[in-house]
Amino acid sequence: MLRVRALRLLRRRRASGVSVPGPSGPRHCSSGPLGVRDDAPGARAFFTTPIFYVNAAPHIGHLYSALLADALCRHRRLRVPSAAATRFSTGTDEHGLKIQQAAAAAGLAPAELCDRVSAQFQQLFRDAGVSSTDFVRTTEARHRVAVQHFWGLLEARGLLYKGLYEGWYCASEECFLPEAKVTRQPGPSGNACPVSLESGHPVSWTKEENYIFRLSQFREPLRRWLRDDPQAVTPEPFRLAVLQWLEEELPDLSVSRRSSHLHWGIPVPGDDSQTIYVWLDALVNYLTVIGYPNAEFRAWWPATSHIIGKDILKFHAIYWPALLLGAGMSPPHRIYVHSHWTVCGQKMSKSLGNVVDPRTCLDRYTVDGFRYFLLRQGVPNWDCDYYDEKVVKLLDSELADALGGLLNRCTANRINPSGTYPVFCANCFPPAPGVAGPSARAQAEDYALVNAVATLPRQVAEHYDNFQIYKALEAVSSCVRQTNGFVQRHAPWKLSWESPVDAPWLGTVLHVALECLRVFGTLLQPVTPSLADKLLSRLGVSATERGLGELFFLPRFFGYPCPFEGRRLGPETGLLFPRLDQSRAWLVKAHRT
Ligand code: MSP
Repeated sequence: MLRVRALRLLRRRRASGVSVPGPSGPRHCSSGPLGVRDDAPGARAFFTTPIFYVNAAPHIGHLYSALLADALCRHRRLRVPSAAATRFSTGTDEHGLKIQQAAAAAGLAPAELCDRVSAQFQQLFRDAGVSSTDFVRTTEARHRVAVQHFWGLLEARGLLYKGLYEGWYCASEECFLPEAKVTRQPGPSGNACPVSLESGHPVSWTKEENYIFRLSQFREPLRRWLRDDPQAVTPEPFRLAVLQWLEEELPDLSVSRRSSHLHWGIPVPGDDSQTIYVWLDALVNYLTVIGYPNAEFRAWWPATSHIIGKDILKFHAIYWPALLLGAGMSPPHRIYVHSHWTVCGQKMSKSLGNVVDPRTCLDRYTVDGFRYFLLRQGVPNWDCDYYDEKVVKLLDSELADALGGLLNRCTANRINPSGTYPVFCANCFPPAPGVAGPSARAQAEDYALVNAVATLPRQVAEHYDNFQIYKALEAVSSCVRQTNGFVQRHAPWKLSWESPVDAPWLGTVLHVALECLRVFGTLLQPVTPSLADKLLSRLGVSATERGLGELFFLPRFFGYPCPFEGRRLGPETGLLFPRLDQSRAWLVKAHRT
């Protein structure tokens, strides 16, 4: 009876995919991300961000797209540490009318603008810790080869024909729009100008002979793909939106422009009078980075997860899979869709002058702080609003006070003078509540804490699989609160190391709290890599003990040895995350103005 509860918990942990210690050492029994066993040895996963337009400097929305992909990828690497198992690409989208026009407006050659802005994206991503394994630029020679090969396949399969294409074209969105998606707005001289209903960007009437892709043939195969694989597009409302679009006829798609009109792009093979449509060009980047058209790309395709914003869903969930099917390939494994950041309730735009510069944010809030904010507050299903006070409030309460405070409470010299991971006393914290001898001190809430933290890694993994990273962080944060409650309840500062009655329990309280911190540090690595490193180093957790395969919580409670017990804590005693509201004079100033 004594061990029943603990054994039940142990069984639940095993079933939940958390590693458990066994007589022959730890075993990892995770079922892997995305609900399939893609963490089996040799299984590969390829994550992508969209490639970013270089018409303007990066903003926080772009960084958010990249961080979501980065966190998914880092979480995957924690499950499958082999460097050869995971790839992650990002890059810049450099061709097309939008860039051609932006360069002309800036008085620059397109290539010069591309070099300049692409370098800004690369620098930002380096600074923000985006751990991509490739950065592709669509102006690279390897990409031209991939696009022209892909085009050749479509042509050879009879999926391209030449025809007259006319309609409204929006250079800013780089797409044709049906009449129903166009409205009139007063222009600078007062006369009505046609603009895109959704974005408000100007559109112009275009009538050209182009190459046209037989998109209409793919309506049924696309519907089948989306119905057969309910996780193909996640979260679910976006999959339903695509299915809804597919209720209507799917018109064929113009996939080239006259070179006299659009010269900044990749020429159609064998017909220099036409330039390949920038979206076809851009989408093929996902193949370029895995070596296409060389056969090596097959090791990574279709094990691909695209992370995209909601505004480019149609291009990724209709055009791209149709093009792939047309070229004889499978659609991507997953398309993860996120919503947008607004600023003080408004869309971010250069004309409104409210674009938030990610560089300033990284400087103000630190890299880990700002990563945590975007990923903790960003909810894929809905737009999120940005303002500075929100960042300060969140980081102060969750990283500085709750997490940093907890670490400090358990490692400060006055409470832990030996500077070690204290010993766990099984008599003080027996495997079931209220059934042990006179030394037992643990209460019902303490067992609830152990249960919550033991199941946390699996919960977090499920949230990652469902592209709900904010929920993963919410779950960690809730356990941090619970652990602070545990420490508060037992007030170790009132216990004495000198007392033979107090000492074992004092050690146990600290041991349990440090074990919780070890789990939190491990699980926070994908989002706050440096802060997690600091935390784990302070706990004395070595680099080889930080994967999810090694993460077995509180083994002493389950009757197994704990490798950390008695180990020296790391030497770094500084604050884990300094509070922002006291140190940031700029915020007070911003408030006053
Ligand atoms: N170049 C295309 C993508 C081609 S992928 C084959 C493009 N570029 S973009 O620079 O306009 O957008 C890149 C990503 O940033 C998109 O996922 C887009 O949704 C995202 N965001 C742009 N503004 C955003 C916000 N305000 N908030 C969050 N993400 C935003 O589209």
